[in-house]
Amino acid sequence: MHSKFAFMMSLGIMFSAWLPVVENASILAVYTFPGKSHYMMHVALIKELIRKGHQITMITALTLRHQNLGSNYTEILIEPVYDYWNDVVPFFKADNIFELTKMDLHDFLKMLEIIGLQTTEHALKQFKVQEIINAKHTRGAYDLLLAEQFYQEPFLALSRIYDIPVVTTSTLGYENHMSQMMGLIQPWSFVPHGFMPYTDHMSFTERLQNSYYSLFEDMHREWIYFPKMDKLVQTYFGHLKVPIPKVSDMEKNVSVMLLNSYAPLTTTRPTIAGMIPVGGMHIYPPLALPEDIQKFLDEAKDGMIYFSLGSNVQSKDMPAEKMKIFLQVFGKMKQRVLWKFENESIPNKPDNIMIKSWLPQSDILAHENVKVFITHGGLLGTQEGVYHAVPMLGMPIYCDQHLNMKKAVLSGYAINLHFQSLTEEILKSSLEELLYNPAYRNNIKYISQIFKDRPLNARDMAIYWIEYVVRYRGAPHLRSAGLDLKWYEFYLLDVIAFVILILVLLTISLKFLLSSLMFKKPENRRKSKLN
Ligand SMILES: *[C@@H]1O[C@H](CO)[C@@H](O)[C@H](O)[C@H]1NC(C)=O
Ligand SMILES: *[C@@H]1O[C@H](CO)[C@@H](O)[C@H](O)[C@H]1NC(C)=O
Ligand SMILES: *[C@@H]1O[C@H](CO)[C@@H](O)[C@H](O)[C@H]1NC(C)=O
Repeated sequence: MHSKFAFMMSLGIMFSAWLPVVENASILAVYTFPGKSHYMMHVALIKELIRKGHQITMITALTLRHQNLGSNYTEILIEPVYDYWNDVVPFFKADNIFELTKMDLHDFLKMLEIIGLQTTEHALKQFKVQEIINAKHTRGAYDLLLAEQFYQEPFLALSRIYDIPVVTTSTLGYENHMSQMMGLIQPWSFVPHGFMPYTDHMSFTERLQNSYYSLFEDMHREWIYFPKMDKLVQTYFGHLKVPIPKVSDMEKNVSVMLLNSYAPLTTTRPTIAGMIPVGGMHIYPPLALPEDIQKFLDEAKDGMIYFSLGSNVQSKDMPAEKMKIFLQVFGKMKQRVLWKFENESIPNKPDNIMIKSWLPQSDILAHENVKVFITHGGLLGTQEGVYHAVPMLGMPIYCDQHLNMKKAVLSGYAINLHFQSLTEEILKSSLEELLYNPAYRNNIKYISQIFKDRPLNARDMAIYWIEYVVRYRGAPHLRSAGLDLKWYEFYLLDVIAFVILILVLLTISLKFLLSSLMFKKPENRRKSKLN
């Protein structure tokens, strides 16, 4: 017993001595999609990596200058910032972003394709990015590529140029098309497409639509989107000596994917070892508020309504008749309203409303006087609302916002409104319901506790897995062998076809045998009688 223990101990020491320690990894991060909300996650990740003593070179669409990350952070800024809404809003003949509520899923996929291609090429064209692509010294320059899992696939080629593993971050969390790149089956029967307003319990027609859209997206990626991205790869990487695989193959080589999701805000679904949920990474313990906001909140003795439609949808662009509804309803309430509103002032603004063009949302939601959060249902805002246990009034506009709010309504901590059909009565009664019915607050307190109950907090979890991939120079041992199969092998269609063939053959031969027995027997008998 004793010697066995000693043996185990020495084995342990041997292994720990052998285990490469990850100190000061040199990481190339490529975050080229200029979505402000996406940067909530990127900034949290980069800050944490720098704090751990790693060196980051970041190709970035938005500057992190004001974060004071020190000398171990090198920024390659893409200039000017690409204004993708400028492409999108006119393309769909919308007057403003609020009209995007009228888009269907086909339009969304088209929109993502457009902004993906435009922002990727905008970044690839940059001289400073070309220098990274065409660098002479590549061997050992970096240990890891960090990339975004969001319509920027050509940058995966950098992992081939520098011969380094990849960790991607998905700011939208799980998406059904990830099953192809990770080699698993996503049952469309209970896993709703991220842009559909469904839950994991779907009716027949919902399952039909869910399957249709999920299949449509998969086909669209394979046959329309990827070939366009492959063309970009050819244009910007084709001249290199290193062979650059097809985008869809490079995608299947991602070692670990960090997903901005966590239960219970995400429904249960099949997943795989390399898909790590780190939802809520951007939420920090609350900081002190600016003095005027602190005072306004402290003195809101009847409670406060916090109103923000996020970074893309701006309240100031709202149609005038909707604007009037909000002002009318707010003006008659005894609660105070703190509103992220991007203009300097609102004509005839009631006194109980304070507007600011930018607000420290998470810190505000942490204040005990905030009773209701009016939100567009974006993923990051929803997570903050849940984290600080504030009931929500949702007005989803596009993408995953519908799904997030649907989930919130089902969990009993939100009311969801349709922005286009909003009226004074609906707004007033919904706000009163959230303010005076304690069920919403009780429910969200419970959900909040579950969301925060984890073995390791989100940022530590992300860092652990990044260092893990650096330590083993990738994670091929986590990769699904399903990725090496042909699609018909993956879905066992060859096996099913084989079994059906055998059954058919058996049936035919049985039938043949039976009929030969039935018809030949009397003949035989007669024959034998004659004999
Ligand atoms: C920067 O990186 C160096 C070497 O990689 C490391 O020794 C140092 O501690 C890091 N500096 C900071 C401020 O983290
Ligand atoms: C996948 O990664 C391995 C090891 O890093 C590399 O040798 C291979 O070429 C990559 N394949 C693709 C398709 O990117
Ligand atoms: C916001 O400001 C712009 C330009 O200054 C103006 O056109 C618009 O009407 C304002 N919106 C509101 C709701 O006050």
